Amino acid sequence: MAKEMRAIGVLTSGGDAPGMNAAIRAVVRKAIANGMKVKGIKKGYQGLLNEEILDLEKWSVADIIQRGGTILGTARCTEFKTEEGQQKGAEICRKHGIDGLVVIGGDGSYRGAQALSRQGINTVGIPGTIDLDITCTEYTIGFDTAINTAMDAIDKVRDTSSSHERCSIIEVMGRNAGYIALWCGVANGAEDILLPEKYDKNEQTIINNIINNRKRGKTHHIIINAEGIGHSTSMARRIEAATGIETRATILGYMQRGGNPTCKDRFYASIMGAYAADILCQGKTNRVVGYKHGEFQDFDIEEALAMKKSISEYQYEVSRALSM
Ligand code: ADP
Ligand code: F6P
Repeated sequence: MAKEMRAIGVLTSGGDAPGMNAAIRAVVRKAIANGMKVKGIKKGYQGLLNEEILDLEKWSVADIIQRGGTILGTARCTEFKTEEGQQKGAEICRKHGIDGLVVIGGDGSYRGAQALSRQGINTVGIPGTIDLDITCTEYTIGFDTAINTAMDAIDKVRDTSSSHERCSIIEVMGRNAGYIALWCGVANGAEDILLPEKYDKNEQTIINNIINNRKRGKTHHIIINAEGIGHSTSMARRIEAATGIETRATILGYMQRGGNPTCKDRFYASIMGAYAADILCQGKTNRVVGYKHGEFQDFDIEEALAMKKSISEYQYEVSRALSM
């Protein structure tokens, strides 16, 4: 029989992502509408272990849907990777009357949720990361805002690159995944797009491309390099030496994680937050919410973590054809 749910908690864990606040707001309001009490846990699993727990009412989450970051704060917590840490976390949940927990974060955070579920606390994960690297879902909270932020920044770098007839290597985030690089590479009309999943480390191809483009009269050359490849500064030095064309590296960094979420991130995060609150109320546990084949769905965490996802071959082929 499903466990009776009276109160649930919500936390954000791992890297922050724009749209997390929309998800928190939706969890709180939908759970309250379903007759539950809601507790906010500050700073991810670290805050749980430190008992940084507060009551959340409908009004506590007013005026946050448009804000980047996470009002609950986030952290990485090594203690929670241990059995003792997880037991302590579950005891603290019980002490505060928390029957179930919504965890907004990435794969690592789901492992924490899985551990808590084994300790008897019902858990549901929501994909929150700008990297889009969660395998069970075609959408993750923050990706849309991050690519739009990066795209605007890359347009700006392109203006100055053209004026100075320079080559620019622009490094975007994504950990080991190339989704941000692929989307921005196409959307910004980059001349070269380097993805960790595909990169053959052959700089000579890039050098030839730059020289040929310059001969054809192109005044700029934009290379989008993914964080998973990295080394943009040394790559710029080598390219400049080989081509004789001034080359600069720009690492966009954390600006990609901040800022007001786009409409898409606010909307999808709201639906996912509400969906998570609903399935927790129904007594489900060890689940993760995803968006797949045009629908919001939930998956077993173990199965979700075992799924595979990769850059679409067709999208990659198109990106190469368009950047020639
Ligand atoms: P993300 O959730 O974005 O993948 P991390 O991998 O840093 O980010 O994980 C966030 C947090 O989740 C970690 O700091 C830790 O507290 C918890 N976590 C990660 N892996 C595990 C694990 N194997 N078991 C329990 N908790 C974990
Ligand atoms: O997962 C989001 C992300 O911004 C990655 O793109 C990046 O590799 C990582 O987090 C950086 O993490 P931290 O905030 O710990 O520096």
